[in-house]
Formats: sequence, structure tokens, C-alpha cells
Amino acid sequence: MVPEILFLKQEDVIQAGLLDMKKILEATEKTFRLLGEGKVSNPPKVQLRMPEMDADDWDSYCMSMPSYIGGDEDVVGFKWASEAKANPSKGLPYGVDIVVLSDPHTVFPKAILDGTITTAMRTSAAAGVMAKYNARKNSKVAALFGAGVIGRTMIMAMMEVLPGLETIYMVDLDEKKAQALADEFKGTYHVVPCTDAQTALKDADVVVTETTAAKPFLKKEWIKSNATVIQMEAASYEEDVLTGADKIFVDNWAQLSHYNGTLEGKLYHEGRLNQEDVVEMPQMVVENLGRENDDEFIFCGTLGVGSVDILIANMLYKEAQKLGLGTKLTLWDNPLWV
Ligand SMILES: NC(=O)c1ccc[n+]([C@@H]2O[C@H](COP(=O)([O-])OP(=O)(O)OC[C@H]3O[C@@H](n4cnc5c(N)ncnc54)[C@H](O)[C@@H]3O)[C@@H](O)[C@H]2O)c1
Repeated sequence: MVPEILFLKQEDVIQAGLLDMKKILEATEKTFRLLGEGKVSNPPKVQLRMPEMDADDWDSYCMSMPSYIGGDEDVVGFKWASEAKANPSKGLPYGVDIVVLSDPHTVFPKAILDGTITTAMRTSAAAGVMAKYNARKNSKVAALFGAGVIGRTMIMAMMEVLPGLETIYMVDLDEKKAQALADEFKGTYHVVPCTDAQTALKDADVVVTETTAAKPFLKKEWIKSNATVIQMEAASYEEDVLTGADKIFVDNWAQLSHYNGTLEGKLYHEGRLNQEDVVEMPQMVVENLGRENDDEFIFCGTLGVGSVDILIANMLYKEAQKLGLGTKLTLWDNPLWV
């Protein structure tokens, strides 16, 4: 048996349906449900920082995010997720990812896919699932911080989950980037470019951060007392935004509490936040937990789990096979040693 690998470049995964946010939201929620039902293994990701592994600061990193998904998916794989701080100034994407899928029985690799757009879609979809369970149903205004790659898909995810949103403030230090995203969605959604956090937060029912900020820059007193706050990176919020919340939801406690540089990790190591204080997304989805009334202030934190990438990649792989997309590679003609 010759292991055949289907190589899917970015154009192929897009043709296989990756930009359909509704589908990606469903796949993301399904992954968290399977996690909650105990059908998924998702160990914490391993990050390799460069040039120095243990430095608080880094120029670039690569992360290995392995996962096995049982049930009707029956697939194993990992995402090799990478970020380089200097990339945007060179006109290159900040994050660059690939996904490898294997057969869990023979362990033969079966696909290698671009994972860069998958990351953007599934990251925003995870925020979308958080918003579905935790945002007030009558939410009218959202403030999104970071008009980068994830900022674009965040607009798509929020509008899909909260179609009643009338205004989205897109905040970035770089006015041109915020304006460019507002222009891109002109005529579809009401996106207002903004550089001032307090202006954007004044009426915001939902706040999402997807910036590359190195330090916290958002204060609790700027945010409405019954808002839903969703953090998609390490630490944009001052501590009391989290510690003052009525409810805290996270995607994966083990990962967030041990990852270098997260707000959750800092509070955990100081003995100020424990697992009993948070609800994880798998439990949130399976038990239908979330907002219980219109007065709660809810904090949601995610760092991203590899199983979502693997489930989405498997879905794209199956669709690509149906459509005859991609380039076929073989690992060997005959294995030298058996
Ligand atoms: N949780 C997850 O699963 C997950 C997955 C992928 C990426 N991320 C994180 O999302 C973030 C964004 O990634 P990206 O690929 O969109 O990056 P990007 O470089 O394309 O965009 C980031 C944007 O943030 C803006 N920014 C930086 N500091 C800011 C501040 N203080 N206020 C407002 N805007 C500010 C930058 O100007 C830039 O436009 C990164 O921190 C990344 O690590 C999270």
C-alpha cells in the first residue's frame, strides 16, 4: 500500500468551502461538543519560541497542536501554527500555518493543507460560539480590536451569530487598516473605523480583542457593566476585567493557565484564579451554559485548540476529494524497511 497524501494549497481549501462562516461556526461548535462528550484528545499545544525558547519576548514561534478526533470523524492530525512579528512590515501574513492529517489506524499521512485561512476562520468562529452562548440577544453594538487578518473574519463571525448588530466599531492603532476593513464591508455591514478605544467601548454590548498588543490597554471602567468580553490573544485587558466578571468561560483551562504570558496564567500562578472559577467551552456547549440574564458581565478567554483545526481540515479534505482538488503526493513507492 502506497501512502497517498493530498496536498491542498490555500486556493484549494478556499474552493472546498473554507470561507463559509456558517459552516465553520457549525464545525467549531461540533468540535467543542465532541470534546465535551469525551470523543477528542487535545493535549495542550507546545510552543517553540525563537531565537530564545524561554524569553518573555520573541521574534517568531512555531507551535505543534496535535489532536485525535473519534466519533464519525475518526482522524488524527496536528496544526503547525507559526507567527512572526516582523512579517506584517514586510507585507507578509503575521500567522502562517499548515495542517497535517493522518489515518489513525495505519497512521499513514493522508493530507497536508494550508492552515493559514483556517486559523483566521476558526479563531473568529470560536469567538462566535462564545458570543452565541454569552452575548445578550439584544446586542446592537460590537467593538472589535485589531483590524488584521483575524479582525476581518471576526466581523464575519459576529454578524453571523448576532445578526441584530447594527454597528461594529473596528479599532486599530493603524487608522488605514481599520478604514480598509470598513471599506471592504461597506454596503454589507455597518463597520465604523476607529482609533480610540473609549469611543468604541462606550455603547459596546460585545467586545472582542484580536490585536498583537504586547501589554494590557483596556480598562474595566470603559466597558458597559453587562457586556460580553472576548479575549482571543494573551492579554489585552487589565486584570479586573477578568477578576470582576460574573462568569468566566475559557476554551481550555490547562492550556490557558500554563501558557507563558496569558492573563489567566498570571492570575493562576498568583493563586487568584482556579479551575473552579471558570467553565470550559466543551461543558458550556454540552450543558448549554452561558448568560442567564441581561445584567451579567461575562469574560471569555481563548488561546485556540488544535482539534477545531483538525475537524475543519478533515471536512475540507473530504470536500476536496469530491471536487477533485489538490495535488497528489506519495510518501514512498516501496518502504525500504518493514
Ligand atoms: N485565540 C486564537 O485561537 C488565536 C489564533 C490565531 C491568532 N490569534 C491572535 O490574534 C491576534 C491577531 O492576529 P492577526 O493574524 O490578525 O494579526 P495581524 O498582524 O494581522 O493584526 C493585528 C492588528 O492588531 C493591531 N494592534 C496592535 N496593538 C493594538 C492596540 N493596542 N489597539 C488596537 N489595535 C492594535 C495591529 O495594528 C494589527 O492591525 C494575535 O495576537 C494572534 O496571536 C489568536
